[in-house]
Amino acid sequence: MCGIVGYVGNKFVDSVLLVGLERLEYRGYDSSGIATINTGELSVCKKKGKLKMLNDCLKETGLGGNIGIGHTRWATHGEPSEKNAHPHTDCGKHLAVVHNGIIENYQQLKERLIAKGHIFESETDTEVIPHLIEEYLYEGLENAVRKAVGEIKGSYAICVISEKESDKIIVAKNGSPIIIGLGKNENFVASDITAVLPHTRDILILEDGEIAVITEKTTVIKNLQGAVVSRQAESVSMKAQDIDKGDYKFFMLKEICEQPALIEGIINSRLKNGLIVFDEMNLSNKYLARVKRIVIQACGTSWHAGMVAKYWLEKYAHIHTEVDVSSEFRYRNPIAEGDTLMLAISQSGETADTLAGIREGKSKFIKVLSIVNVMKSTIARESDGIIPIMAGPEIGVASTKAYTAQLVALYLFALYLGRLNYTIPEDEIKTKLDGLKAIPGLLNGFLKSQDTVIKCANEYFDRKNFIFLGRGINFPNALEGALKLKEISYIHSTGYPAGEFKHGPIALINETTPVVCIAPKDELYPKMVSNIQEVGARKGRIISVATEGDDRIAGISSNVIFVPECQEDISPMVTVLPLQLLAYHIAVKLGYDVDKPRNLAKSVTVE
Ligand code: G6P
Repeated sequence: MCGIVGYVGNKFVDSVLLVGLERLEYRGYDSSGIATINTGELSVCKKKGKLKMLNDCLKETGLGGNIGIGHTRWATHGEPSEKNAHPHTDCGKHLAVVHNGIIENYQQLKERLIAKGHIFESETDTEVIPHLIEEYLYEGLENAVRKAVGEIKGSYAICVISEKESDKIIVAKNGSPIIIGLGKNENFVASDITAVLPHTRDILILEDGEIAVITEKTTVIKNLQGAVVSRQAESVSMKAQDIDKGDYKFFMLKEICEQPALIEGIINSRLKNGLIVFDEMNLSNKYLARVKRIVIQACGTSWHAGMVAKYWLEKYAHIHTEVDVSSEFRYRNPIAEGDTLMLAISQSGETADTLAGIREGKSKFIKVLSIVNVMKSTIARESDGIIPIMAGPEIGVASTKAYTAQLVALYLFALYLGRLNYTIPEDEIKTKLDGLKAIPGLLNGFLKSQDTVIKCANEYFDRKNFIFLGRGINFPNALEGALKLKEISYIHSTGYPAGEFKHGPIALINETTPVVCIAPKDELYPKMVSNIQEVGARKGRIISVATEGDDRIAGISSNVIFVPECQEDISPMVTVLPLQLLAYHIAVKLGYDVDKPRNLAKSVTVE
């Protein structure tokens, strides 16, 4: 949510900042801007709209210099506009600030500063920061920032530059992520590692309550009291090529197509001599064997993965499992029992609500195991143990490969607990693992021919509403299919448990609304067939996702997308593929920017 970058060194600062912002654009893209200091003078360039607008503007009149900060915005306070875009400056326009987070007490601070004569230009919460710093600048930039953040309530990661001390960037953090990239005679700052990868793989992670003073040659981290904090640099294994679109038109399609190889890789690293291993988990079998209750909390697509996992955890490990969206979980004062394990699922590892849920759990002495993609993320660092999903960087805002990777990780974890609890026989685990190993081949086969999905996209792309139905373990995929479609095509869509549909939503059926029915051959298949017939009887347009060769479903549907047969408990790993592709092809047909849907951001670091 908002991406920030900073650079000090001898390269052309405009380009370094733009390259960084391009890699952070997934965090927000309603406006962007940079500020640099060139021959002692601060200049700012801001534009509304995607980064391209800023790029075009800078092509004509670059700012230049050896130090600068940049920002790509996802609006919270104040509409997307040039004046609300960051960087924001003080009254004298001698210092500039970029910010990621929310300043909760900005209204009081703003009133106080206005009374003192400060003139505000934007509607943002952020603008109070440069004015506050301006108030204390007589103490030097570092101390001024320290005093300013001491008065701020809320979450922030900020970068500050000033004409008065034009050799340094001051960075401060509380609640929003920020890393420092270390180079030779140059240093970088960014909201996440991907932005500094073209230049360095050596990073320092700033913690809450810390301030860093960064010059060309030095980086000093201090706490809010001014004491120096020693921090070891870490080397990240991710490479710049990992975030390349290759020949694909959109990252989303690339990421959908990566799923078979990805799942194969996860299986290979998680199975050693026929046993499931979680090297990084950090929770002992002795502890796990005592767990009597699991609470899963997550947001968006990760929440849907948690909903699927509930079926597996209860069925294989016989552990009562609750699933909640983090924004609800964090405020409902969850009951803590000593034998409860929390699973926090997050692709980015930075989602503010999920992080708050973790802190809520930990405050009640619940152990937290995170299922994360980004290993050095805040959620990964604050959890008692982690299961990395190993999906690699996911750039498309609509999550696809992270979902299937989460499913595989959670499935293996459920089997792992089942073995530990003696609730699933060894030979059954072996059969289940064989079924899982078959998934990559099945997905590859499906991806080779997307004709039926494209046909549906061409036929229904102009509809105003879509309904997605599923039962049992495929009900969460109905939610996920609906979410994918609305995220990138802006078509209203709703997912529902097919059996509940008759209790109200069936009133929505008419001859034009497509109803996507997920109906693989599983134990609830006969029930699903009845539900499909109920839709058909009301003249609904039925698009079924059914098992290869299922003539019965074909006979009662307007369109069928056949998926290969697999073991029924893992069918969500297969049935989600046509749903992802349907959303993708419809959005492409409608001419939308699939990777950067309006109003969304990939990493939601505000409440
Ligand atoms: C945002 C993204 C979604 C994602 C959700 C949770 O809303 O746009 O794609 O599912 O956050 O993110 P997380 O990183 O915690 O999985």
